[in-house]
Amino acid sequence: MIRAHLTIDPHFTVGPINRRLFGSFVEHLGRCVYDGIYEPSHPTADAEGFRTDVVELVRELGVSTVRYPGGNFVSGYRWEDGVGPREERPRRLDLAWHSTETNEIGLDEFASWLKKVDGELMYAVNLGTRGVLETLDVLEYANLSSGTHWSDKRIANGQTEPHDIRMWCLGNEMDGPWQLGHSTAEDYAQLAATTAAAMRQIDPELELVVCGSSGASMPTFGEWERVVLEKTYDNVDFISCHAYYEPKDGDYASFLASGVNMDRFIEAVVATADSVKAVVRSDKTINISFDEWNVWYQSRYNDVDKITDVQSWPVAPRLLEDSYSVVDAVVFGSLMISLIRHADRVTSASLAQLVNVIAPIMTEPGGPAWRQTTFYPFSLTSRLARGTALELKLDSPTYETAEYGDVSLVDAVATHDDNGTTIFAVNRSLTEEVTLEVDTRALAGVSRAEAISLFDDDIHAANTLDDQDRVSPRENASVEIGEGTVKVTLPPVSWTVLTLA
Ligand code: AHR
Repeated sequence: MIRAHLTIDPHFTVGPINRRLFGSFVEHLGRCVYDGIYEPSHPTADAEGFRTDVVELVRELGVSTVRYPGGNFVSGYRWEDGVGPREERPRRLDLAWHSTETNEIGLDEFASWLKKVDGELMYAVNLGTRGVLETLDVLEYANLSSGTHWSDKRIANGQTEPHDIRMWCLGNEMDGPWQLGHSTAEDYAQLAATTAAAMRQIDPELELVVCGSSGASMPTFGEWERVVLEKTYDNVDFISCHAYYEPKDGDYASFLASGVNMDRFIEAVVATADSVKAVVRSDKTINISFDEWNVWYQSRYNDVDKITDVQSWPVAPRLLEDSYSVVDAVVFGSLMISLIRHADRVTSASLAQLVNVIAPIMTEPGGPAWRQTTFYPFSLTSRLARGTALELKLDSPTYETAEYGDVSLVDAVATHDDNGTTIFAVNRSLTEEVTLEVDTRALAGVSRAEAISLFDDDIHAANTLDDQDRVSPRENASVEIGEGTVKVTLPPVSWTVLTLA
C-alpha cells in the first residue's frame, strides 16, 4: 500500500483566505453572455432576460468577484456602446473572436446581473486601442454619484446609484501578439502608469491590476513584470497572472502535475515583484491577481480561425466549449490547491470562464443548464476553504514526469478556522490508490472527519447534455479517526476534500 503523510498545525499559517480567490470571469465571447447568462426567450428568464436557472447554479458555485467584459474582447471594445437605450446601441465587429457584438448587454445590465449572484464587479478597461481618457470616462460613469456628464448619463439610463467598482484591470494580456494593440513592456508600462495615476485622482482607494504576462512560457516573461512594475509600482496594487493547462500528446502524468507549474509561476512573479519593491524602495507589497486560470484544450479546436467571412461574423457562436472530464477536474482541483497555498500573495483569482466558454456551467438555448465536472472542486473549495491557509509538512512518494521531473504523488493544502480544519488533496497516480495519514495531534481532538472525493473508473467520463449527472463527487467512506491521526484513501486520479471538526 502506498502512503503519504501530512502534519497539520494551526499555529503555522500562510495567510487569510480572501473570498476574492473564488472569482470568475465573464467575457463577451462565444455563448458566455448571450445564450449563457442572458437569454430573454428562455422559459426561466427573468424580467431582465437573465436565465434564473443559471443564476442559481452560479450562486451554488460560490463565485465572488467576476471579471468583465474581457479578455481579448476588451481590447477592441467601446464601453459607451453598451449603455443607454438598447435600440440605439450599435452592432460591432469583435475582432478578437470574429463575432458580431450586439451590445444588448453592457456595464449596467451586467452590474444588475451581479447583484442576483451576490458577485463583485472587477472591470477591465481597454488599453489596447483606447487610453487614459476613455478609462476616466467609464470610471466617472460607473463610480461618480452625480453632477458630471457621465454620471448624469448613468442616472438618465435608469441607474441612480453608482456601481462603485473597486477593482480595475488596466488592459488585458498586453504582452500577447494576438492582442489588439499589444505593445512592448516599456510602452505598456508608460500607458498603465499614466492611466493609473489619473484614475487615482478621481479615487485614490481604487484597487488596480496591472497586466503581467499572459503565461509563464511567454518569451518576455519575467522581464515584462520587472519593466512594468518598475514604472507602475506606486500606483498599482496587483499584477496579473494567466495560465491554462491541457495534456500534451496524451502525457497525463505531466498534465496531472500542472499545479507544479502554477506554483513556480506564482513564486517567480512574487520574487520579481519583491525585487522591484527593493529597487524602488517602497513599503508597499504588490499581490497577484491570478485573473485567468483553467484547463483549456487550446490545441483541440481552432474554431475562431474558421470564421472567415467578415460579412457574416455570427452573434454568439459556439466557441471554446470544452467538455471537462474527471482527469480535468482533478487537475482543476490541484490548481485551486496551488492558489490557496499562496494565499498570502495571491489575494484575487478568476476562473476563466463562467458559462459555456471553458466553463463549469453549460447551457442549451431553450434547454437545460448543467454542472461540468470542474464545477464540483470549485463549489466545494469555495464553500469549505475558510479562515486561514496553513503551512503543511507533506511527505509523499514521488513519480517521474516528462515536463516537471520528480513530482509529489499527493498534493494537499489545508485551511483552518474556529469551526475546524479542511484538507484539499489530489492523488496524481494514474493507477494506484494512496492512503493519506494526517497527523492531527496539534488540533486538540478531532471528533468528526468526513471526506468527499471526485473520481471515476473512467477518467475521461464527463457530464454532457445527454448525461448531465454522469460524474459527481461522492462520500469517501474510507475515513478512519485514530489516536492523533485521521486516515483517508485517495483513489487514483482523484480530488478529495476532508473536513475535520
Ligand atoms: O479566456 C479566453 C481568453 O484567454 C481571453 O480572452 C484571453 O485574455 C486569454 O488569452
